[in-house]
Amino acid sequence: MSLSNKVAIITGGGSGIGRATAHRFAREGAKVVVADVNPESGERTAAVIKEQGGEAACMVVDTSSAQSVESLVRQTVGRYGKLDIMFNNAGISNERHSVIDMPVEEYHRTVAVNQHGVFYGIKAAGNAMKETGGVIINTASIYGWLADHHCFPYHASKGAVVMMTKSAAFDLARFNIRVVGIAPGLIDTGIVSEWRERPDVWNKIQKAQMRGRAGTPEEVANVVVFLASDQASFLNGHVFGVDDGAASFKR
Ligand SMILES: NC(=O)c1ccc[n+]([C@@H]2O[C@H](COP(=O)([O-])OP(=O)(O)OC[C@H]3O[C@@H](n4cnc5c(N)ncnc54)[C@H](O)[C@@H]3O)[C@@H](O)[C@H]2O)c1
Repeated sequence: MSLSNKVAIITGGGSGIGRATAHRFAREGAKVVVADVNPESGERTAAVIKEQGGEAACMVVDTSSAQSVESLVRQTVGRYGKLDIMFNNAGISNERHSVIDMPVEEYHRTVAVNQHGVFYGIKAAGNAMKETGGVIINTASIYGWLADHHCFPYHASKGAVVMMTKSAAFDLARFNIRVVGIAPGLIDTGIVSEWRERPDVWNKIQKAQMRGRAGTPEEVANVVVFLASDQASFLNGHVFGVDDGAASFKR
């Protein structure tokens, strides 16, 4: 098992990519803190891990609050004695408007979770890992590299995550803390349920992918497990596309 005795926090662990990664981490021997703003879904993830003989705890967090994220890290270290892996993964999409019609509140709401939440996670985890080293993994998006219509706050926040990953890796290298990111393409999770519920739209979007389908959260989790493990010991300061090549060709 590649994560034996590692202690990991996963934000957004109640659903989608976070939930799939929590299950994979637990199967690789990690003690997993499933952190989510939604206590019911977080508890469900943790319960399945425990039923399967793994170690997990659910903790409620709102990643848009620095205090809440600091408390999450403090509670984790209090419970398990250390923190080895921080997966800053919680994220939301924005209401669709052109930039000139985008409500200012909607911009701030999106950036608060997707961008500021990652900063708070890097800062709190970096402090907790200073003596021990560790790995911080941030969820960006191919939308941190490529623009689409009516997505301005999401693009702003995910573009920031790409750059924050590089900047933090530089600052934290002296503590033997690696900081990397993932940039998923279209993945079949709750965040795209609005499209999923409309089969015509969903089919059209899937057809636009390189091999005509969305990815699964498990396909992303496989990459995150690798990045978190010692197998990835020389990977640092990069954001890796998990998108079946979507960011590599013009549609
Ligand atoms: N699914 C995709 O196509 C796709 C593509 C690129 C990037 N992403 C990113 O992947 C990450 C995970 O999303 P997903 O696809 O699994 O979607 P999801 O909606 O299934 O999961 C997101 C989880 O984050 C939690 N969350 C939302 N706001 C939170 C907050 N303030 N504090 C704590 N938890 C919060 C939700 O309750 C949910 O459990 C997000 O950062 C998202 O932007 C997803």
